Amino acid sequence: MERGAPAAGGSVCMCQTVFPAHANHRGELGAGQLLKWMDATACLAAEKHAGVSCVTASMDDIQFEEAARVGQIITIKAKVNRAFKTSMEVGIKVTVQDVLTNVEKMVSVAYATYVAKPVGAGKIELEPVKVLSTEDHLEYTLAIERRRIRLGYEQVFQNLMQESNKEDTFEEEDAVSTELTHVQSIELVQPPHANHHGNTFGGQIMAWMETVASISASRLCRSYPILKSVNMFKFWGPSVVGDRLVFNAIVNSTFQNRNGALGQQTLWLCQGCDTSDVEPCFSRRTCSEVARSTARQATRRQRLNVEVGVRVEAYNCEEWIKDQARHINSAFLIFKAVNDKGELLTFPRIKPTTKDGMRRYHGAIARRRIRLARKCMLSAKEDKPSDPWERSNQAYMSYSNIAALAHLAAKPGWEITSTLNDIKIWTHEEGDVLSLKVEMQVKIPSHLAFSLLSDFTLRQQWDKHFLTCEVLQAVNEDEKIYYVTSPPITGHKPRDFVILVSQRQPCKPSEPYVVAVKSVTLMSMPPSSEYCRSEVLCAGFQIYSDCNSSCTVCYFNQVTSGVMPYLAANLTGSSKSIEDTALECIKFLELKGSKY
Ligand code: COA
Ligand code: ADP
Repeated sequence: MERGAPAAGGSVCMCQTVFPAHANHRGELGAGQLLKWMDATACLAAEKHAGVSCVTASMDDIQFEEAARVGQIITIKAKVNRAFKTSMEVGIKVTVQDVLTNVEKMVSVAYATYVAKPVGAGKIELEPVKVLSTEDHLEYTLAIERRRIRLGYEQVFQNLMQESNKEDTFEEEDAVSTELTHVQSIELVQPPHANHHGNTFGGQIMAWMETVASISASRLCRSYPILKSVNMFKFWGPSVVGDRLVFNAIVNSTFQNRNGALGQQTLWLCQGCDTSDVEPCFSRRTCSEVARSTARQATRRQRLNVEVGVRVEAYNCEEWIKDQARHINSAFLIFKAVNDKGELLTFPRIKPTTKDGMRRYHGAIARRRIRLARKCMLSAKEDKPSDPWERSNQAYMSYSNIAALAHLAAKPGWEITSTLNDIKIWTHEEGDVLSLKVEMQVKIPSHLAFSLLSDFTLRQQWDKHFLTCEVLQAVNEDEKIYYVTSPPITGHKPRDFVILVSQRQPCKPSEPYVVAVKSVTLMSMPPSSEYCRSEVLCAGFQIYSDCNSSCTVCYFNQVTSGVMPYLAANLTGSSKSIEDTALECIKFLELKGSKY
């Protein structure tokens, strides 16, 4: 891009110096201010693409990795990844740069959805985005996967709530009632809080929410909480200038940190606490309160995170009199707390005292399960053992299955190793990971190839590496879990696999059909002594339509260290076995295809 030229397509960039007015008491950029900037930048990117005003429909989970300090520079880049019908996904990247050292760090990567809202009642259908680079293409492909997650989130949450164990008992002595964390606040929406059509900025509402939630959390730690993450949320309805917004916040739960580390931190000590027999106290409460709570904490893991829920309701003057609230938004914010030296503080165990409080406490646990699953899936490393298939992580498993294949296919550096008439074999090496790509020209329509290749029970018919294959779970029409047995590698036991197969149809003709495969762990299918349980890290098919009667099938497989010697032997010896399998695949597809 030319220097100084505006960014292409629906992409914009905002730079801000962090001034004292943007910072909290610690001299760090306030999270509310950052959320406001993020939303403003993303909304401008959306409007640049849509050509009309847009409103924030939802925000996916946001995590903050790094704090920005007064004097540092914040850069926010936002880009429309994909336009659906009336909505768009905007990717937001926030970095912080130190002026003196020039060091730049990532603060957050987030995704938000904006809906085009032209003046008047009508809706407009958006133009597709122009996909220019490989990265644009990847984001475009994955945007539809993220959309599945966000539109399915409520259902996943409800399912988890139904499963959750409602038997929790709360020990009276050290648990703190959530009631003391209740905060209510009100704001009048004025013109600077809204766009030129009078619609309240989503980021402004987020900033107000953060303030109220942070006050609520501070009641529990008697310190200044720091926002760590925000759970995925939706703006249910619009708000406009003149609205009175009422914010209600309360702590829903406190959490032990994930690793349960009692930590190396030196925590704030209460006068009179005997450090030899109790844990350091977590707050500046009176000594007798502390003594009781800390004595218990000595046997427990520390609670370093707190979830605060905020509900926002709007009233115009008329609704105000009649007490008719409009629900604008509910969000759940996770805070940590630090002392003056920046050391982590612990939160007490909380005790919900009402029926709603109890329900929200279980809600917080369900949300945390989903958050952890997301974190685990999205930071998935290559060569990592397969993850257990659970309700909380199913959406993210499917996402990571499709995403891994898309990333593999888009990698630069594929080298061609063998070419036959209708078959090309490519390899890709990165560290000790070897990947294989087999491209096949098949004379049947792409949709038929897709339907034959996505049914893994048919695979024995062409792939001799499949001895048996049965469906263990048909999760939905796009996701199935199979149990596969495979012949032994010389001198070893036969192998078995539990795999998740995710299939996707293209949204437009230039996109491929996708069948992605990865191993998962199922409680009901533990490894047996008869078989050597093996892993598929990332494999699958991309099927491109060439014309009405033929297609290109690309098979990918990222090879695990266990299978490496077997495959390496095949590759060094003329790739014969791979070509044979590919020929069988083409034969099978064309034979079956001819019957339709
Ligand atoms: N996450 C992402 N997108 C969502 C969503 C969610 N949770 N819920 C709905 N959408 C998308 C739909 O998929 C649809 O997109 P598409 O046309 O590209 O397929 C689009 O929003 C409209 O959905 P629809 O079902 O027609 O309308 P709705 O009744 O669900 O309304 C909003 C969605 C966002 C328009 C509506 O809730 C709203 O006006 N919210 C307030 C927005 C606002 O003013 N924000 C600023 C702060 S108040
Ligand atoms: P839910 O109660 O199912 O969590 P809501 O949208 O009603 O969903 O509320 C979202 C969150 O806002 C709650 O979890 C709670 O933390 C907070 N909240 C809601 N209502 C109140 C209230 N009256 N007082 C204090 N906090 C509230």
